[in-house]
Amino acid sequence: FFFCIVLLLHPSLAQTTNEHEQEDVKRSQFPDGFLFGTSTSSYQIEGAYLEDGKGLNNWDVFTHIPGNIKNNDNGDIADNHYHQFLEDIELMQSLGVNAYRFSISWSRILPRGRFGEVNTRGISFYNNLIDNLLLKGIEPFVTIHHHDIPQELEDRYGSWLSPLMQEDFLYFAEICFKSFGHKIKYWTTLNEPNLFADMAYMRGWYPPGHCSPPFGNCSFGNSDVEPPTAMHNMLLAHAKAVKLYRQMFQPKQGGSIGIIANTMMYEPHGDNEDDQKAVSRALAFQLAWVFDPIVYGDYPPEMRHYLGSVLPRFSQEEISILKGSIDFIAINHYSTLYAKDCIHSACIPGWDRPIRGFVYTTGERDGVLIGDRTANPRFFVVPRGMEKIINYVKERYNNMPMIVTENGFAPPPQQKQQHQQDLLQDAERINFHKSYLAALARAIRNGADVRGYFVWSMIDNFEWIDGYSVRYGLYYVDRQTLKRMPKLSAKWYKNILTVDATSN
Ligand code: NOJ
Repeated sequence: FFFCIVLLLHPSLAQTTNEHEQEDVKRSQFPDGFLFGTSTSSYQIEGAYLEDGKGLNNWDVFTHIPGNIKNNDNGDIADNHYHQFLEDIELMQSLGVNAYRFSISWSRILPRGRFGEVNTRGISFYNNLIDNLLLKGIEPFVTIHHHDIPQELEDRYGSWLSPLMQEDFLYFAEICFKSFGHKIKYWTTLNEPNLFADMAYMRGWYPPGHCSPPFGNCSFGNSDVEPPTAMHNMLLAHAKAVKLYRQMFQPKQGGSIGIIANTMMYEPHGDNEDDQKAVSRALAFQLAWVFDPIVYGDYPPEMRHYLGSVLPRFSQEEISILKGSIDFIAINHYSTLYAKDCIHSACIPGWDRPIRGFVYTTGERDGVLIGDRTANPRFFVVPRGMEKIINYVKERYNNMPMIVTENGFAPPPQQKQQHQQDLLQDAERINFHKSYLAALARAIRNGADVRGYFVWSMIDNFEWIDGYSVRYGLYYVDRQTLKRMPKLSAKWYKNILTVDATSN
């Protein structure tokens, strides 16, 4: 009996339902003009945190408080991309990507938000980056805002908790459209507002670090009310920026614009109707939290039902600017989890209540993991989830053009320090991308209108609360010398993108 219990509970003894996808991936399986790229974000790679007029942002402040980030790492230097961007563009060129997704550091452009001057040196940096990408035939794919906010906006009115922030974002976005728009074909307003709302205002893991029990031991915050409030302001900020873009810039500049949601896929934990409904609720509370308002003009019915008055309402005027405010749907997708109903049965305290509508999610069923483990304890390797999430988006939003703006793998931490050599031989990452791309190709074959795929990430970088301990890059970065070295996966990606392309 004791032996059975150990077998059930010990993670290393739990079997996994691993998918060994043998299907080979070829560039020719994807439509003409498909974007194959890599992704990064400003705070995670740039460094130069006090240079050339940049102001302090929320992450500069948060990471400098001991205990907030693993090993007390911070992005002061990060990958020093601010100074090494030309070298990084060379790396991308050698990969053969035709697109590069990056974000603009808000406090580099507006050190004090709209309460100070525009920093022209910040504008020059991004102009330089964009011009050099274009010179190499790499399409810049710009995220206006990826988690970093001028600290002044945090200090003045608590950033996204205040509706005033909508004006701040609009002000920033207008400067971006004006300064770079004539060179940019793809814009996204915000990266993962749904994840940011949870992390910053429910779990307390991202600045401003708010949370309340049962999610954490923060002394400040309200985990029920703040995430929906922050999301509401982010959605309206997005809608206002898109309205401006469409009126003033898009007609001349001719680009397209979207917003990025983070989304898991979910499968029912048990073979029953309640758990099926839990899957629908989990997807509604995560993916549709972002896209239902934008496509249909209101939050998903499941959210209205379960959150009641906590969920803000949109006015008629707001609905009119929100509805239809994207040209494509962008998702960041990494993993699949089981969803288990916890309305009719007990919730397991912690992860997904209440924001996700009374759903408990887990990577394990009867001692069997849903897929191989990764560095993130909530991320498992489940390639079929890519096909399923794309099909879900296709059905729910009438097959709008879709772009996968992030998909990536970081290996689970090892007992002992991993050697550089091990990290460079990243066969697991290759298998991950191969099998997820094969699943994406299946969805496309079955009619999904997917226009691009971006690997997270181009290089190892600052992985938020995990600091530099978690490595997602196709290129390894030596933390002492900041030297970049291609991992096996970089060579594999290059092979797909270049060899196959010429044999078409
Ligand atoms: C989502 C985020 O957009 C990115 O910043 C993060 O590093 C990756 N996923 C990996 O967790």
